[in-house]
Amino acid sequence: MTSKHTHAVHVPPSHIAAIAPYQAGKPIEELAREFGLDPACIVKLASNENPLGMPASAKQAIIDAMDGLGRYPDPAGFDLKQALSTRYDVPQNWLTLGNGSNDILELVAMAILEPSSSVVYAQHAFVVYRLATQARGARHIMVPARDYGHDLPAMLEAIDDSTRLVYIANPNNPTGTYLANADIESFLSQVQARHGARVTVVLDEAYNEFLEPELRVDSIGLVKHFSNLIVSRSFSKAYGLAGLRVGFAVAQPALTDLLNRVRQPFNVNSLAQAAAIAALNDKEFQVKSFAVNRDGKAQLQQAFDALGLKYVPSYANFVLVHVGDAARINLELLKRGVIVRPVAGDGLPEWLRVSIGLREENQRFIEALTDILTATGT
Ligand SMILES: Cc1ncc(COP(=O)(O)O)c(C=O)c1O
Repeated sequence: MTSKHTHAVHVPPSHIAAIAPYQAGKPIEELAREFGLDPACIVKLASNENPLGMPASAKQAIIDAMDGLGRYPDPAGFDLKQALSTRYDVPQNWLTLGNGSNDILELVAMAILEPSSSVVYAQHAFVVYRLATQARGARHIMVPARDYGHDLPAMLEAIDDSTRLVYIANPNNPTGTYLANADIESFLSQVQARHGARVTVVLDEAYNEFLEPELRVDSIGLVKHFSNLIVSRSFSKAYGLAGLRVGFAVAQPALTDLLNRVRQPFNVNSLAQAAAIAALNDKEFQVKSFAVNRDGKAQLQQAFDALGLKYVPSYANFVLVHVGDAARINLELLKRGVIVRPVAGDGLPEWLRVSIGLREENQRFIEALTDILTATGT
C-alpha cells in the first residue's frame, strides 16, 4: 500500500519571511569535502576566532566541571557574575549572562521592541542587529556609513518618534572601525537630552580586548552614568571560547531586570560558565592573544600595502580588504585551502574580511592571495 503525504505549505509572517539568514564562515570539514582537500592543510580565517584556540586553564575548568553535567547549570550564573563583578566593579544585579553576546543582542530586541518600534544602526554594521530587529517585526533605520564606520551624528538625527533602540558596534564587524570615547559619550548625552529613557543604546564591544588599552572606551563608567545604556562583551574572541557560547551585558538594574525577564532560565551552560571564569582570570592568555593579534594585523596590513590593495585599518581581530572581484578571489582562495569571509551580504561586494590568524596561517593566506593576483595580473 502506498502512503499518501500531504504537503501543507506553511506561510510565515511576512517579517520572518523577509529575513535573509546569517551566513556563517565555511567550516573546515565542509571545504575539505567540497574540494577534496586534507582538512589538516586548510587555513580558516573566516569567523574572527582566536587562533590560539581556547586557554588551557579553561580546558581544565571544563574537565573539572564535567561531573556536574547531570544537573542544570546555575540559572543565575553566580560564580561567573561574581568574577565579572570583581573585574568590572559593578554589582551582580547589573550583569546579564548570554549564550554568546549574540544572545544579549537578541534579548535586548525581545525585551524592548514592538512591531511599531524602529531600530537605528549603521550600514555595514554587525548583521545580527538587522536580524534581531526583523525577528521582532520592527522597522530598521540603517544610517549610511562614513569611511566604513558609524556616523554617530547622522545616527542621532535618524532617531525618530518610533525609535526604541540603537545598536553601536565598537570596534565594528565586518569593517574593523573604531569610535573614540568622546564621540560615544557625546552621542549618549544627546540621545538622553533629546529622548530621555525612551531610546536604549546597546554598545557592542565584542572586540574590545583587541584595542590598545589607551583607546578603550570607559564603557563601564558610561553605564554608571547613562541608565539607557547596555554594554555587551564576548568570551568568543580574545578569550578563545567561541564554541562554548558565552557573553555578558552590563547595564543598570532596571534594564538588567528587563533582560532577565526574557532570558531562557538556563541560557548559559555549566561548562561555559566554568570556562569563562578561568579565561577571565588567565592574564597570560590575554596578553598572548593581544600580542598575536597585534603582530598578525601588522603582517596582513603590510602585505596588503605591498600588493597595493586598499584596506580599512583594523581595530579588531580581522582586516577588511578590497580585492575587486571578491566572489572569484574567494573561490580561488578556497581552492587553495584558505577560508576567508565574503561580505557581499553586508553591502561590500568587492571586499573580503580576513580574520587574523597565527603568523604561518596569515602567511599561507598572503601567499595564496599573491598567487591569485599575480596569475590574473590584477
Ligand atoms: C560585533 C559583534 N558583536 C557580537 C558578536 C557575537 O559574538 P558571540 O555571540 O560569539 O559573543 C559578534 C560575532 O562575530 C560580532 O562580530
